Amino acid sequence: MTRRLPDVRPEPGLPERVFIHEVGARDGLQNESGVVPTEAKIEFVRRLARAGLGTIEVTSFVPPKWVPQLADAGEVFAAVRADAEITAADRRLPVLVPNDRGFDRAVELGADRIAVFGSATETFARRNLNRTVAESLAMFAPVVERAGAAGIDTRGYLSMCWGDPWEGPVPLDQVVRVGKALVDMGCSQLSLGDTIGVATPGHVTALLAAFAEAGVPASRIAVHFHDSYGQALANTLAALRFGVTTVDASAGGLGGCPYAESATGNLATEDLVWMLHGLGIETGVDLGALVATSAWMADLLGRPSPSRAVQALIGKRMDAHGLVLADPTTDPATTSAAGPGA
Ligand code: HMG
Ligand code: MG
Repeated sequence: MTRRLPDVRPEPGLPERVFIHEVGARDGLQNESGVVPTEAKIEFVRRLARAGLGTIEVTSFVPPKWVPQLADAGEVFAAVRADAEITAADRRLPVLVPNDRGFDRAVELGADRIAVFGSATETFARRNLNRTVAESLAMFAPVVERAGAAGIDTRGYLSMCWGDPWEGPVPLDQVVRVGKALVDMGCSQLSLGDTIGVATPGHVTALLAAFAEAGVPASRIAVHFHDSYGQALANTLAALRFGVTTVDASAGGLGGCPYAESATGNLATEDLVWMLHGLGIETGVDLGALVATSAWMADLLGRPSPSRAVQALIGKRMDAHGLVLADPTTDPATTSAAGPGA
């Protein structure tokens, strides 16, 4: 027998529960060079739901010429909404919408949670939204207002919060100004994006402190780290210590942004869950089922998952206590200490 869950050692001051906002089906699949078949996308969401993820971002209602990978957004979202297993337990199924046209389509298909997505920098606003920062805020305002009137929750994403590949460092006050505009517009939660993965923990704390000082507390903030430089988990811990309780992550570490140079995958959900469970923080996620889901998706995409936890756990079956009966011929962990057959 070998143990496949971390020993639990809580750290005082951290939250008891963290809400994982799973973005693999959207942020992950939008960045694939090949198009994943519609049925596989639906099955991916179903498996993520079975693994216990309470919030699963499904897709984006954007023009197919901008993101061809998600051209089947309508079909995927309609199927997901119609699937009783996925919608059980009040699962949250947000979708991205940039404008009124996307909003109309999402609502027509039953969306009750949406996200608009702004940029802290002018260059990325133009590249990603074909608008200045001010023009993009003006595009979002009617969407957020209509959503509010219809009882639809809106999350506001903000990209390039810790650095921009074209503009370099981004001043804290510039990020706070645009983020606060999204909150003041009516976004219930602000997800701070490290789109190209350049943040480090002290910088995370500094930005969260700047938002708190401007009247946006950690309770309104989510963090969205891409893992280009291997900092995503350290940055997440810094955010948890500051009081953030919603963390975005992508199953298997899929992801990136087609309009941001050097954006790699998001923080892998499995790596996040391993750390949170080790800290004694509840997530509702079954790590074994999630690893199996990412292994299945990696097979489909034809390349291994970059998640360290997936790599460590792949092919292992766990019981509810994280115990597996490992194959001693393939699992070096079982041949350590007592050795096989001991
Ligand atoms: P545009 O080309 O300026 O739009 O794009 P437009 O208003 O001029 O319309 C052009 C055509 O698109 C028209 O059709 C519209 O009807 C149509 P035509 O008349 O030429 O036949 N159109 C639409 N079709 C379907 N759905 C729509 C829609 N809107 C217009 N919603 C726009 C402006 C904002 C639409 C475009 O730039 C866009 O959608 N950009 C999104 C790109 C994207 O999805 N990027 C990835 C997501 S952001 C991200 O990944 C970062 C994040 O993860 C956080 C982080 O990591 O930092 C969130
Ligand atoms: Mg992203």
